[in-house]
Amino acid sequence: MALEPVNVREFQQMAKDGLPKMYYDFYAGGAEDEFSLKENEEAFRRITLRPRVLVDVSRIDMSTTILGYRISSPIMIAPTAYHKLAHPEGEVATAKAAAACNTIMILSFMSTCTVEEVASSCNAVRFFQLYVYKRRDVAAALVKRAERHGYKALVLTVDVPRLGRREADIRNRMVLPYLKNFDGLFSAEVDSDNGSNLEAFANQTLDASLCWKDIAWLKSITNLPILVKGILTGEDAIKAMEAGVSGIVVSNHGARQLDYSPATISVLQEVVHATRGKIPVLFDGGVRRGTDVFKALALGAQAVLVGRPIIYGLAAKGEAGVRQVIEILKTELELTMALSGCPSLKDITRSHVKTERDRIH
Ligand code: FNR
Repeated sequence: MALEPVNVREFQQMAKDGLPKMYYDFYAGGAEDEFSLKENEEAFRRITLRPRVLVDVSRIDMSTTILGYRISSPIMIAPTAYHKLAHPEGEVATAKAAAACNTIMILSFMSTCTVEEVASSCNAVRFFQLYVYKRRDVAAALVKRAERHGYKALVLTVDVPRLGRREADIRNRMVLPYLKNFDGLFSAEVDSDNGSNLEAFANQTLDASLCWKDIAWLKSITNLPILVKGILTGEDAIKAMEAGVSGIVVSNHGARQLDYSPATISVLQEVVHATRGKIPVLFDGGVRRGTDVFKALALGAQAVLVGRPIIYGLAAKGEAGVRQVIEILKTELELTMALSGCPSLKDITRSHVKTERDRIH
């Protein structure tokens, strides 16, 4: 019998062994030199912990509230595309795992199950991630459907005016899967007979003119709270607040967009300072350990989103694999909190971590 994975990284090899190369490369890859891809994980290794002892840690409470929704731990599911390429049940399996773990799933705009299928399959709290196409009516239609089916917030991804150059997809001639969400809205056909079909599709459809004033447009068509995902500077955090968003996700899109963008954990504190506690800051990029979650919380994140490990869990074992990935991260976070003298999330403070900057100053 195959050995059970004991940590989240071990799911990656299982996914690699089980998936066609084109799909594994799509999930695992980053942009160009993949500098930021490595950095997202490496930068966590350069942060050490400052544990406190002789604190009563006989009970650990990891629960938290995101936009008013209570979840069991600050570990959420990032929006990632095309789950049916990883497992035949696709996003429905992921959503069931989110419900079982009592966490929030952010459904990708590029999902292979529909907004409705995911909504009716489970009672997890769901947010909906949005891309805005030149055809604004497509975004507007999806927003309406998400609202109607009980999605609780919109996550507007703002780091994709064009698609990053993911060289593995170009080499593999990655093919766009069937996107059932768009049935009846528009034809997801693309003119491309070489290179990445995804890149051609994205560049044909995405509205590269989208800018800050368009948040007002989005607010005019929905009452849902809006989070912007893809903020990497204090300047943009301030603009996001001025635009009236309800939260920010610090993210470099899992290093799939602008290579040489900073490791997200290295800019989290800057963004948190800029928001001055007025709106929640979520975080993603390179979270592979409970200690990573702890570090992000210490630097001011309210919760983290996990991307690739969820897909690897899904590819390895479907819903059970996604559950296992989340449970392993929760178990590790709980232990980290106990060993650091933090019985609840509010006990995790900036003084529980030491970053490279702390060493210089
Ligand atoms: C993504 N990401 C993403 N983001 C988004 O807003 N919409 C999307 O459709 C996708 N699709 C997608 C596919 C795949 C295969 C990956 C790996 C990522 C980015 C995602 O939400 C998140 O920002 C990163 O995945 C976080 O980094 P880690 O956890 O993968 O290191």
